[in-house]
Amino acid sequence: MHSNFVQQSTLHAAIIMDGNGRWALARGLPRAAGHRAGVETVSRIVEAAPELGIGVLTLFAFSSDNWRRPSPEVDALMALLWVYLAKETPRCVENGIRMEIIGRRDRLEESLRRAIQRTEAATAHGRRLHLRMAIDYSARAAILAAAQETTPLSRESLSGALGPPVDLLIRTGGEQRLSDFLLWECAYAEFVFSRRMWPEYGADDLAWAVREFRGRQRRFGAVPQPTAKSHDAWLE
Ligand code: FPP
Repeated sequence: MHSNFVQQSTLHAAIIMDGNGRWALARGLPRAAGHRAGVETVSRIVEAAPELGIGVLTLFAFSSDNWRRPSPEVDALMALLWVYLAKETPRCVENGIRMEIIGRRDRLEESLRRAIQRTEAATAHGRRLHLRMAIDYSARAAILAAAQETTPLSRESLSGALGPPVDLLIRTGGEQRLSDFLLWECAYAEFVFSRRMWPEYGADDLAWAVREFRGRQRRFGAVPQPTAKSHDAWLE
């Protein structure tokens, strides 16, 4: 169940970090090298996010369907996640970043579960950025679980149980799909797709995506507010 999001008028950006494998293979490196480079991108993006007005950042680190990858690759990803939590926790505390892990925990190794608990407890008071890392995450599973736990069931109660609505959804790596990520929360998200592979995505790319988002008109199904000029134009 969800609790205290960072409540401010900052935006919720969510990122599908895609392209690690292709980035590595293009350089004759093993896929795990792409994931290692991808972790460095995560650090760059987390550092840049608050300055760009991002208050909540949700990153898709490991989907429930990623268990289907060869076990050495799954092991490499799990090891990277453990190291990331161990290394980044003190930096998060220092920089006011609250880290939360979303997704199933029961299929994770005990050592990773313990690392998650330590990180969440140590960073709980961070208010500059709410960083949500999705691990063993499936939006359809999350919606089902929330619906089973929520009474009375309503749009509002389900939204509250799942998490904050996404304002800006970014996917790198040139693909244009949601891949079972934050399906409910993306109901009115603005989508920005980048051809860049995740290891080469940078703060400038994120700044570009936020500018693009700010330039969009979000109507949430309504019609745009008429300005004096457009109103006159209708009357003519
Ligand atoms: C997609 O690349 C990437 C993932 C499977 C998840 C992202 C993982 C990381 C950035 C590394 C671990 C993260 C942390 C925070 C420690 P892909 O392998 O699907 O790329 P491809 O489409 O080119 O094959």
